[in-house]
Amino acid sequence: MEQKADFKKIGVLTSGGDAPGMNAAIRAVVRTAIHYGIDVVGIRSGYLGLINRMFIPMEPHTVSKIISQGGTMLKSARCLEFKLPECQQTAYNNLKEEGIDALVVIGGDGSFRGARELYNRFGLPVVGIPGTIDNDIYGTDMTIGYDTATNTAMEAIDKIRDTAESHNLLFFVEVMGRHSGFIAAQTGLATGAESILVPEEPIDINRLCHYLQHERRKNKTSGIILVAEGGSEGGAQEVAEKVKKILPEYDIRSTNLGHIQRGGSPTAMDRVLASMLGNRAVEALLGGISGQMVGYASGKIVYVPFDEACSKHNSIPHHLYEISNIISR
Ligand code: ADP
Ligand code: F6P
Repeated sequence: MEQKADFKKIGVLTSGGDAPGMNAAIRAVVRTAIHYGIDVVGIRSGYLGLINRMFIPMEPHTVSKIISQGGTMLKSARCLEFKLPECQQTAYNNLKEEGIDALVVIGGDGSFRGARELYNRFGLPVVGIPGTIDNDIYGTDMTIGYDTATNTAMEAIDKIRDTAESHNLLFFVEVMGRHSGFIAAQTGLATGAESILVPEEPIDINRLCHYLQHERRKNKTSGIILVAEGGSEGGAQEVAEKVKKILPEYDIRSTNLGHIQRGGSPTAMDRVLASMLGNRAVEALLGGISGQMVGYASGKIVYVPFDEACSKHNSIPHHLYEISNIISR
């Protein structure tokens, strides 16, 4: 790495919805910075901690054994005040007073919007690491936490399948994804769900019912319909109620997997991704890269300007959806 910038102290924070693997990313940032002789300060609770000076010194031992832990040791927050210019100014002043001359932000696109303000308004060197279970960040193939979340959902759905089959139930299962159907599409294919409803594709309840009747005529006595929380006809419960009105003879249940998808020990994939991106984020800052997210696409580390990462969206791979439609029938 060609070193172009010289920093004495960098800060690291996690922001937005937590994701398994965020701890592994923190660990990689801390250990890489210390490797290059840079001090590291952990900022607790995302941007809230920047406004309120919630700073903690980070040493190599403070990140020991966190690679296997879900959640984030720095805590996270959704801090709406940070959208206010005066709060951003306070945050910047606090960083300067603490002697922090660069920042690593681990979070989703909302967190990158905050990071972009610090970079654009104050010229603070900032690099982002994509951490969200939703996998909806433009420019990276995978976000930290997505693989763990989909594996957690898959295991839960496999269990639901057992009881659905034993009792001839039609189950509507809701997974996370307020604006994005990645988790639904991925786990739907992995569990052989009979149908997958995602925010990106409007659904027609009558057509869904028609399809369910068609399947039942083929002697399918149970089924799993996967519903992303931001689906066009609502979440699992709403869709289940609408279907029940049209097909009252069906024994229907709905369940919401909820926040279990955000917790748990990260998979090997998430630990490795987080370790790579944490390491490369610090090296990017030292190499003079700023105002960008460090991602991973087509087997390579990539740098994506915040403007792009914030304004564009990853769309769900249509082939997942198409393949599932063919082979689950
Ligand atoms: P995620 O990072 O997972 O997308 P959010 O959308 O909740 O989660 O964003 C996380 C935090 O980022 C917000 O609580 C807020 O502090 C900050 N943030 C989001 N949007 C902006 C914005 N437009 N300007 C400044 N800060 C923002
Ligand atoms: O940001 C990830 C996410 O899991 C979304 O899919 C979901 O809509 C949201 O977080 C829920 O977060 P919270 O319960 O913290 O508002």
